[in-house]
Amino acid sequence: MEKKRGHVLAVPYPTQGHITPIRQFCKRLISKGLKTTLTLTTFIFNSIKPDPSGPVPIATISDGYDDHGFDPSGSIHDYLQNFKTFGSKTIADIIRKHQTNDNPITCIVYDAFMPWALDVAREFGLAATPFFTQSCAVNFVYYLSYINDGILKLPVVDLPFLELQDLPSFLSVSGSYPAYFDMVLQQFTNFEKADFILVNTFQELEPHEKELLSNVCPVLTIGPTIPSMYLDQRIKSDTAYDLNIFDSRDAAFCTSWLDTRPQGSVVYVAFGSLAELNNAQMEELASAVSNFNFLWVVRDSEEAKLPSGFLETVDKDKGLVLKWSPQLEVLSNKAIGCFLTHCGWNSTMEALTFGVPMVAMPQWTDQTMNAKYIQDVWKAGVCVKIDNESGIAKRGEIEFSIKEVMEGEKSEEMKENAKKWRDLAVKSLSEGGSTDVNIDTFVSKVQSK
Ligand code: UDX
Repeated sequence: MEKKRGHVLAVPYPTQGHITPIRQFCKRLISKGLKTTLTLTTFIFNSIKPDPSGPVPIATISDGYDDHGFDPSGSIHDYLQNFKTFGSKTIADIIRKHQTNDNPITCIVYDAFMPWALDVAREFGLAATPFFTQSCAVNFVYYLSYINDGILKLPVVDLPFLELQDLPSFLSVSGSYPAYFDMVLQQFTNFEKADFILVNTFQELEPHEKELLSNVCPVLTIGPTIPSMYLDQRIKSDTAYDLNIFDSRDAAFCTSWLDTRPQGSVVYVAFGSLAELNNAQMEELASAVSNFNFLWVVRDSEEAKLPSGFLETVDKDKGLVLKWSPQLEVLSNKAIGCFLTHCGWNSTMEALTFGVPMVAMPQWTDQTMNAKYIQDVWKAGVCVKIDNESGIAKRGEIEFSIKEVMEGEKSEEMKENAKKWRDLAVKSLSEGGSTDVNIDTFVSKVQSK
C-alpha cells in the first residue's frame, strides 16, 4: 500500500460505543495508506490488557480521571468540564510531540460529543472533522432542538411519523440527564467551522435523513464501521478487529457453543456497554428468554440483578450467559435467529449489516428513535411494548415479540428486509460504493491540507 501524506489524530469519546466505530474508521484510513493515531484516555488504556494497540497506534490523553476512572454516580457535568480542560491540554501535547516528525498530525477527527477539540485543532492550523457516532435521523432531530433552544416542536415537519415516545429520551422525558442533553445539543456549536461532518451510517439506509442533515452541513456517510473480514470476500480483510474495554475471555467458548446450535435457533440478547436494567426487568427477561435457545450478555455490573439461582438453573444445552460477547462474531454466526437489543446505534447497524432481524427494547438516549426506525422504517424487527403500570416490558410481551420475529406471520418479511439491508451495507463498503467513495473523498481532503 502506497503511503500517503497526512496524519489523522482520532479522538473518540471514552466509552465502548464511541471508541469502537472511530477505531474501525481509523483502520479503514490506514488501509488506504493514511497515517492514523487513535487516542484513548489513560485510564481506559491502562485497563485494557494486553496492550490494546493492534493495527492502530494509540496515544493517551487525560480526562482528569487517570487513576480511578469516572464514577458514573458522580456529576456528569463535572466530568464533561474536566474532560474539556484536561483533554484540550493533552491533545495539544500530542500534536506538539509529533510536530518535528516526518509526518506531523494534519487533521483531527473528533467525536462530535467534544466540539472543543475543533478549537485545539485550529490553534495549530489543522483540519478538523467531527465524527457523529449516531444516525443522521437522530442528529437531525438534535439539530432542530439546538436551533430552538432545546425544544422540538411536533410534528417534526420533515419526519412527521415521529411521535413523542419515538424521540431520543432526552427530548421525550423532560428533565432527564440535563448534562447529557446539553452535550448532544452542543455537538452543533462548532460544526459550521468543520471541513466535513462524518456520520457513522450509510447513504442507502437513511437517504432522506442524510439529505436533511446535508442541508445544514457537508455530510459524508462513512458507515457501517464494521471490519470487512466479516462481510464479503471482495472487501479487503481486516486483522485485529476488536478493542474491548470489557473482559472478553469467554469469546472462544461462545463461538464454539454457537457452532453446535441449529441455524436460526438462538436469540441473542445484549444491551450494549452502558444500559442498566432494574431487577424487575431482569426477572421478566430471564423468564421470557428461558423459553428459547438463548445467548445473553449480562455485564459484571448487572449480574447481581438476575433472579436468585437463575445462573445455576440455566440448561447449558439451551442457554448461555456471558459477561461480554464477541458481538460481531455472534451476529455473523448462522445459529442466530434474532437479536433482542437495546438498539444502541452500533448494535443496530451491526444487526442490519449482518442481516439479523431485531426485537427492540430501547432503554434511553437515541435508542428509542433507533427502535422506531427498526420497526417502522427499515421493517427489520418489532418493538416490545412497555407495560404502562410497571413501566417495564413484561415476560409475556417479550416472549410474544421474539416469536413474532422468529416464526410469526411477518417473520419472513422481516428476515428478507434484514437481508436487503445487509446487501446494501456490503455494497456501500465495497469498492466504488457510497461509503467507500466518501472515505476516499475524506482521505484526499486530508492529503490536500
Ligand atoms: C452508546 C449508545 O447507546 C449508542 O446508541 C450510541 O450511539 C453509542 O453509545 P452502547 O449503549 O454501548 O453505546 O451501545 P452500542 O452503540 O450498541 O455499542 C456497543 C458496542 O459494544 C457494539 O459495537 C457491540 O458490538 C459491542 N458489544 C456489546 C460487544 O462487543 N459485546 C457485547 O457483549 C456487547
